[in-house]
Amino acid sequence: MSQTEFDAKDFRRSLSQFPTGVTVITTLDADGNPVGVTASSFNSVSMDPALVLWSIDKGAHSLSAFENAEYFAVNVLNRDQVSTSNNFASRGEDKFANAKYSSGLGGAPVLDDYAAQFECKTWAVYEGGDHLILVGQVEQYRYNDAAEPLVFARGSYAVSAQHPEMTNKPSATTENGEGDFVQDYLLYLLRATYQNFSNQLYPRLQEECGITPEEWRILARMIGNPVIATHQLSEMVMQPEVGLKITADHMVGKGMVSYSNDNTLQITEKGSEIAAKMQQLALKEEAELLSHLSDDQKVALKDNLKSLLEKLN
Ligand SMILES: Cc1cc2nc3c(=O)[nH]c(=O)nc-3n(C[C@H](O)[C@H](O)[C@H](O)COP(=O)(O)O)c2cc1C
Repeated sequence: MSQTEFDAKDFRRSLSQFPTGVTVITTLDADGNPVGVTASSFNSVSMDPALVLWSIDKGAHSLSAFENAEYFAVNVLNRDQVSTSNNFASRGEDKFANAKYSSGLGGAPVLDDYAAQFECKTWAVYEGGDHLILVGQVEQYRYNDAAEPLVFARGSYAVSAQHPEMTNKPSATTENGEGDFVQDYLLYLLRATYQNFSNQLYPRLQEECGITPEEWRILARMIGNPVIATHQLSEMVMQPEVGLKITADHMVGKGMVSYSNDNTLQITEKGSEIAAKMQQLALKEEAELLSHLSDDQKVALKDNLKSLLEKLN
């Protein structure tokens, strides 16, 4: 059998360009204990019968529980469940210790909080290389229309937002020349400003410093923390450790950081130089954006934004 020899890290990075949702998939093991794993491989398969699938790593502790499970439950996470995702992605024994859940079909745990939930009867288990592909027939489902789903892309958690092309349509004016309600609404103004500024900044960071948005977040944090444990950095930049390591490995290849041990990253001299250049460029872009404001107005703008953030936290 011919086999393509890809560089595994690079192949994983290419796959991370495909954004997915995040789920926690649960079942009971042979002793009746709850088990669960974070999985982004979930997808829909068929409408009639109602089938869904996901794949589990053959190295997972919970492999045999899922392989033999009559029922499993798919909990699609909402944007507020990053810590739940990290918890079920860990190899900890006691993943359910802090989870709020009840017993669903076949005893599979269903989480109290979710964006959507699919309770499935195992329909087929297929070989899939180093994974098993599990297909489930959905027997019950529910969803929370008000919940925004959690997204996973490029190794980072994200939330879905309207595309800038949808929000930056030229202002619709009424007959008396007034803009519509949305154009003057704070949320629209904040989001459109954020999107337009990041659309301008990120390509420049790529062109002039050769870094991606994920690398920028890591380097920006490492300016103040030149040696840092990956689990700490993972919390700061909102990347689960598995995603952070994909980005970090690439940065090691580019000579920006190095591992001082398996779980500690250190910024290199080259990384520090890039970080300084990146910081300068970011500050220059900010200064240009704010150039029409007086010094007092600039201070007031930031103070007002900070007070809004405090109020909302
Ligand atoms: C966002 C995200 C998505 C993941 N998707 C999968 C997946 O689809 N299949 C899988 O086997 N592991 C996936 N993992 C890794 C597992 O959650 C992780 O290996 C977990 O420790 C397995 O638990 P277990 O060893 O207790 O069974 C994912 C991790 C994260 C953070």
